[in-house]
Amino acid sequence: MARILTGLKPTGEITLGNYIGAIKQMITYQEKYDSFIFVADLHALTIPQDPSLLKSRIKSFIAMYIACGIDPAKNTIYIQSENPYIPAISYLLECHTSYGEASRMIQFKEKSRQNRNFSVGLLTYPILMASDILYCDADFVPVGIDQKQHVELARNIAERFNNRYENTFVVPEVLISEAGTKIKDLKDPTKKMSKSESNPQGVISMFDSPIDITSKIMKATTDSDNVIKFDEENKPGISNLMNILSVIDNISLNEIEEMFKGKGYGEFKKYVALKVSNHIKKIQDRYEKIINSKELDDILNKGREKSINLAKEKYQLMCEKLGTIR
Ligand code: TYM
Repeated sequence: MARILTGLKPTGEITLGNYIGAIKQMITYQEKYDSFIFVADLHALTIPQDPSLLKSRIKSFIAMYIACGIDPAKNTIYIQSENPYIPAISYLLECHTSYGEASRMIQFKEKSRQNRNFSVGLLTYPILMASDILYCDADFVPVGIDQKQHVELARNIAERFNNRYENTFVVPEVLISEAGTKIKDLKDPTKKMSKSESNPQGVISMFDSPIDITSKIMKATTDSDNVIKFDEENKPGISNLMNILSVIDNISLNEIEEMFKGKGYGEFKKYVALKVSNHIKKIQDRYEKIINSKELDDILNKGREKSINLAKEKYQLMCEKLGTIR
């Protein structure tokens, strides 16, 4: 059975963008693939974090995955930092990645520009991500478009290693969902909705109350021609809301245009707000039941064991190939 894997970085609360770009895809694919989903807590450390907040977020992410519909019976669910072989493999991969290659990553360029005092971890971040993907021979990696380049780097590293030392890794393929490619910030629909960097008014968190969700959607930035039509270039705000509604309500963009022909933005926004808040409220109700259950620990222990066993095997294979063995 082909394997699929994804991870989310706990640098803020899970957003609607994360849910649509990554989690929802995993829910669709869990029926037919051997599925792995984890919390990328080591990735969060590239910028300073409040340790107690990070600790509570890690657990909350796991509970939220399950509340969203990630089925523990069909997924290996784990915390990245609980598998010490992942950073060990990452180091071996770093030695097979050029500095030029790593420093060409768009996210690295953007973030290192924002903070000149950036950590070395920011540069090696995508190689750690390659380790996340390659240790378990993931065939498919569903992500939002912002992570596509990182998965491509993982492919290049895998191919290079395979060419030098014979077949060691499966070369993974990136999966980008059509509708949820990139959910935009509600206040500035030219940039992505991001948990760590945006104005909170532009971001819907999976923990927002129905009142907050409604207020954010009603105040979302739109153009002024009052026609509900999908046009990402000229009408980014309306197109973003249409994308969100399309995924949440399982309805095509054409159907949305038909439904709101001759109607104005106020009515449209009210409808989107109602659908999104109802959808998220159901997830929050499930979350409340899961967050303090003992079942979470059992799920994580099982996930840790499976992940460590696979990574240990891959690490040993790499060491044999590299000659770092007694
Ligand atoms: P992160 O935590 O930034 O985002 C998690 C996932 O959500 C997607 N995403 C979005 N999709 C659509 N619209 C948006 N506005 C939006 N914002 C975020 C991201 O593309 C991502 O799929 N480095 C990764 C975590 C990671 C990982 C991995 C992912 C670590 N190792 C291995 C896949 C495989 C990250 O920071 O994602």
